[in-house]
Amino acid sequence: MCGIVGYIGKRDVAPLLLEGLQRLEYRGYDSAGIAIHSKAGGGGLKTAKAKGRVRELESLLPKRFAGNTGIAHTRWATHGAPNDVNAHPHLDAEGKVAVVHNGIIDNADELRAKLAADGVEFASDTDTEILAHLIGRSQAEKLEEKVRQALRLIEGTYGIAVLHADFPDRIVVARNGSPVVLGIGEREMFVSSDVAALVSHTRQVVTLDDGEMATLKADDYRTYTTEGSRTSAAPTTVEWEAESYDMGGHDTYMHKEISEQADAVDRVLRGRIDDRFSTVHLGGLNLDAREARGVRRVKILGCGSAYHAGQIGAQLIEELARIPADAEPASEFRYRNAVVDPDTLYIAVSQSGETYDTLAAVQELKRKGARVLGVVNVVGSAIARETDGGVYVHAGPEVCVVSTKCFTNTAVAFALLALHLGRIRDLSVADGKRIIAGLRKLPEQIAEVLRGEEDIRKLAAEYADAKSMMFVGRVRGYPVAREASLKLKEVSYVHAEAYPASELKHGPLALIEPAVPTVAIVPDDDLLEKNRATLEEIKARSGRILAVAHQEQDKADHTIVVPKNEVELDPILMGVPLQLLAYHSALALGRDIDKPRNLAKSVTVE
Ligand code: AGP
Repeated sequence: MCGIVGYIGKRDVAPLLLEGLQRLEYRGYDSAGIAIHSKAGGGGLKTAKAKGRVRELESLLPKRFAGNTGIAHTRWATHGAPNDVNAHPHLDAEGKVAVVHNGIIDNADELRAKLAADGVEFASDTDTEILAHLIGRSQAEKLEEKVRQALRLIEGTYGIAVLHADFPDRIVVARNGSPVVLGIGEREMFVSSDVAALVSHTRQVVTLDDGEMATLKADDYRTYTTEGSRTSAAPTTVEWEAESYDMGGHDTYMHKEISEQADAVDRVLRGRIDDRFSTVHLGGLNLDAREARGVRRVKILGCGSAYHAGQIGAQLIEELARIPADAEPASEFRYRNAVVDPDTLYIAVSQSGETYDTLAAVQELKRKGARVLGVVNVVGSAIARETDGGVYVHAGPEVCVVSTKCFTNTAVAFALLALHLGRIRDLSVADGKRIIAGLRKLPEQIAEVLRGEEDIRKLAAEYADAKSMMFVGRVRGYPVAREASLKLKEVSYVHAEAYPASELKHGPLALIEPAVPTVAIVPDDDLLEKNRATLEEIKARSGRILAVAHQEQDKADHTIVVPKNEVELDPILMGVPLQLLAYHSALALGRDIDKPRNLAKSVTVE
């Protein structure tokens, strides 16, 4: 997904902007560009941009590219092919305005036609260039007003940063649907679409809300609405250290983030367990016991891995709190004019807290008067701020496009929420104690699973010839199968699909052959014999089987044995070895592990 960085202060701006872009590379992009207020010659704006990596952009910078104010961008193409011309920043006709933009202008065609009819010649195919021309053609005196006038004509989403040659003492930024965060330094200001680009300089940040703008000067900033009225967004402190964005000696972020799951789970549990009442404290949930007792059903919404973690969450809430619960892709929910029930508790799940489909679903629910909680990783993100309360999953920054530690932490956060709701309702003290004991075992059990990495690497090689992989599980095991299937697809590009094990015989069994092995989730629970029968079905059709289980499965060709926890918590552990299976499959295939093709870490556009 596109990335924005900006700086105004006393230091040379180009190196700072390039370093910021490199911090955002993990989000996925196809081109990059930079614009500065030049100190050389007659001043004015200087730009450099190109398709390709940030390091290639650096080699393109003119020798004299000195300045103290600038903006930069990594582009993930939406309008217009990835090429040099379509890379941001985009300029107006006179080259006095430079704009970088995340988001989509829905009425771009109409605006472009009007401008072209008025004689404007476009250099690119992008919607963003329209903004540069609108700002450049404004007759308003102040830059803020020029930008406001342009934004009033825009329908769609944006996170923008703007430079103007006539206003070298400032950067103007604005947000509507695409994140913009200000970083407050010592007599210098930063701006980015992601705190990852800020934390090495400052941890004091101000997150803009939709419809909010800001003017950044070297020693000051002020925020206001697109209508012009002042706002007073208070700075918050980013909890993550800059080092936590480093790779920590691992070859990839994915391997680092898989490896740190024991510590990450320790963090999501820390300070929340209440042994006295065999329950948990969830500060910030903003749902008291009486309100919790009034909840008649729970609807969980998320995308991708967040959706799959929500499925595990729904299962846990039904089992522990006996409240009807289900999960649905937010990207579907927001378009189906769902019946919003006042007695339903809605829960939005998101690592980034910026996924547009999930944010839009939250905004639709809020518009209809629903109570919406967030289960989110990034503190202060849009979804975290838009929801009525919630649970932070404290996974730490997740840089790899492929979610691993945050998925696991989200599932644990749902276990905490289910325990909390259950102990307000009918879950017994004994069951509360049992679940707490299981939660406390998770970090060490995850560490034990990770110690088996070498065996899993060998299994990945064993199945490397698969033309497709089937993943199957029943009830608690089905979301595990779905998430494992997504992991393999998105990082190794090997086709995979997940099916409820009981559904195989209703069609997908036709796919089974030696070239299409099956990964089967076979927990020691009340469905063990049913799952073993599924292994028989597959074996009888010459299907190869890799089982994830609590004991060796004689019907399987290979078994990954994971430690037994409480039956409700087993799904959390059973997914961990399959993250490693996906990782080593991709490694063996020479894939770009942290930045898989076509994908972005946070999909902040539709
Ligand atoms: C996970 O491996 C994927 N990269 C993707 O499905 C992701 O989970 C999804 O885009 C939702 O992102 P979010 O959790 O930041 O909302």
